[in-house]
Amino acid sequence: MTTNLPPICSYEGSDYQTAFWEQGGRAYEDAVEALALRRLLPAQGRLMLELGAGAGRNTPRYHGFERVILVDYSRTQLEQAQQRLGSSWRYVYVAADIYRLPFVDGLFDAATMIRTLHHMADARRALMQVRRVLQAEAVFILEFANKRNLKAILRYWLRRQQWNPFSLEPVEFAALNFDFHPVAVRGWLSECGFTIERQLTVSHLRVGVLKRLLPLKVLVVLDGLFQWTGELWQLTPSVFVRSRATGQTSNVQAGAFFACPACDATPIADTPPELVCPLCGRRYPVVNGIYDFRLS
Ligand SMILES: C[S@@+](CC[C@H](N)C(=O)[O-])C[C@H]1O[C@@H](n2cnc3c(N)ncnc32)[C@H](O)[C@@H]1O
Repeated sequence: MTTNLPPICSYEGSDYQTAFWEQGGRAYEDAVEALALRRLLPAQGRLMLELGAGAGRNTPRYHGFERVILVDYSRTQLEQAQQRLGSSWRYVYVAADIYRLPFVDGLFDAATMIRTLHHMADARRALMQVRRVLQAEAVFILEFANKRNLKAILRYWLRRQQWNPFSLEPVEFAALNFDFHPVAVRGWLSECGFTIERQLTVSHLRVGVLKRLLPLKVLVVLDGLFQWTGELWQLTPSVFVRSRATGQTSNVQAGAFFACPACDATPIADTPPELVCPLCGRRYPVVNGIYDFRLS
């Protein structure tokens, strides 16, 4: 049973995808994230879990996987993803809280979490849930916002910023928006049962004047070269980490997929238009192809 969970940053009704990505001059950030993902993703796989999938901006990048399960707390974000990707066996849309994922243990052979950890007030707890639903040896690609970035360091040294970019605790720069120290994130990953395989630093040239002066292709080639320095140091605003789930995970019962996020009963039969927990009796609707496991 899961109680007293951290608050959720709501994207219900948000125009994040159009305002931030499509009209916000973020072609460079999108292209270098795509490059980092290409470098970190396994060539193929069976079941990919995309955590905080939003409007599905990254989902087509998981083309090596047979199925992608998109999880987001916001139903309207998932509706946008559905418009982009369509309805098919290949994509499963699930409205749920990352702190209580509605899946049986050890289900997935890969997961990604891009631009989402930065909304987690209890990042370690969220990572613990991710590890629970992954098989042993599964790949997990995590992007996080780095508090120890060059701009924050300079601002701190010039006394234009109060918070210390070198201290390990997260900084909440706006309500439910956190930047993390790379050492802290690596520590949580290790405590939650992951070993780190590769780190890439991303968005080295996220500076207005450079983005205006240099052509996109040049920005991407340069960032692509600098990304490899992530193994040595991390001073960019965004860091991608590929880790692997270690330790044992119980074998998944044939056909088991969903679990009850309210009472943790497993499995729940997949019976749209409504799933019913056999233990606590809670009902979870499936409306227009979107499973709704939100509890509040
Ligand atoms: C900044 S967006 C990123 C979307 C997508 N990953 C991308 O990079 O384009 C963060 C997403 O995380 C989702 N989110 C935040 N907290 C969540 C939670 N506790 N459980 C599930 N989704 C959450 C939001 O609804 C939002 O769609």
